[in-house]
Amino acid sequence: MRNFTTVTDVVDLNALIKEALDLKKNPYAHKTLGVNKTLGLIFLNPSLRTRLSTQKAALNLGMNVMVMNMDKEGWALETEDGIVMNQNTVEHIKEAAAVMGQYCDIVGVRSFPKLIDRDDDYSGDFFKKFIKYSGVPIVSLESSKLHPLQSFADVLTIEETKKVARPKVVLTWAPHIKSLPQAVPNSFAEWMNAYDVDFVITHPKGYDLAKEFSGKAKIEYNQTKALEGADYIYVKNWSSYEDYGKVLSMDSNWMMTNEKLKNTNNGKVMHCLPVRRGIELADEILDGPNSLVVQEAGNRLWSAQAVLKKILESNF
Ligand code: CP
Repeated sequence: MRNFTTVTDVVDLNALIKEALDLKKNPYAHKTLGVNKTLGLIFLNPSLRTRLSTQKAALNLGMNVMVMNMDKEGWALETEDGIVMNQNTVEHIKEAAAVMGQYCDIVGVRSFPKLIDRDDDYSGDFFKKFIKYSGVPIVSLESSKLHPLQSFADVLTIEETKKVARPKVVLTWAPHIKSLPQAVPNSFAEWMNAYDVDFVITHPKGYDLAKEFSGKAKIEYNQTKALEGADYIYVKNWSSYEDYGKVLSMDSNWMMTNEKLKNTNNGKVMHCLPVRRGIELADEILDGPNSLVVQEAGNRLWSAQAVLKKILESNF
């Protein structure tokens, strides 16, 4: 593995799942693999889980880690080619990425979408340029359209808790007060399509995800029907892809509750976090026995460690 920005960077998903679950049992088995190697983490947006789990994963492998909050501490970045930089941007991504590549052996990058221009957000331009100009392996810490370290942790959580070989997994839209990216649901859909599950997506009309990510998932606009017999319910808000970045509904009837769980196969509830209690998910779910959200966040460590291990083994 050279870069990690999508499930398609994974050659053998089952082998990577096994690798991550082995690391969970024995975190320090490869504690010298990354000695004298440096991981740089660049955040253009806030983070709790991604920042801490990826740092810890690198430390478990013996790596050094440097973290920079680019949005607050770095120069304002320009990404457009051939532009005369006479406005607010101070440094071009060509130099910034190339300089990071001088200091770091692997670089992790988080850059959210602006949710204004869909073609621009979905072009993947920022990551393509970081890969091109840094000259080192790049790990996505969430891009404008995908969040692969999260989705890999989600797969691990299902793998270690599932009671049947091919569980029913339902991705359900939830209400929110703000316009949020489609990165987490896109990515979850992409990984569920690569993993062997019965996969259903439910959301109000107008919230269909890009077909390139929803793929072979069954789309069901009636949440009650979608939840019937579900083994896992993945709750997440996202803004519209069609009417790009818009909030088309804030219907609180879409919030997951214990009453709705009765219609499932004692379904386990997942969410990537952070979550707005009482809006996206009811307290009774988050505080109840069916919530997997903390275990899921814990698995972020093992997804990151397996990916870093794979990159270290393949490139150095
Ligand atoms: N789930 C997730 O990526 O959390 P953070 O935004 O806190 O990193």
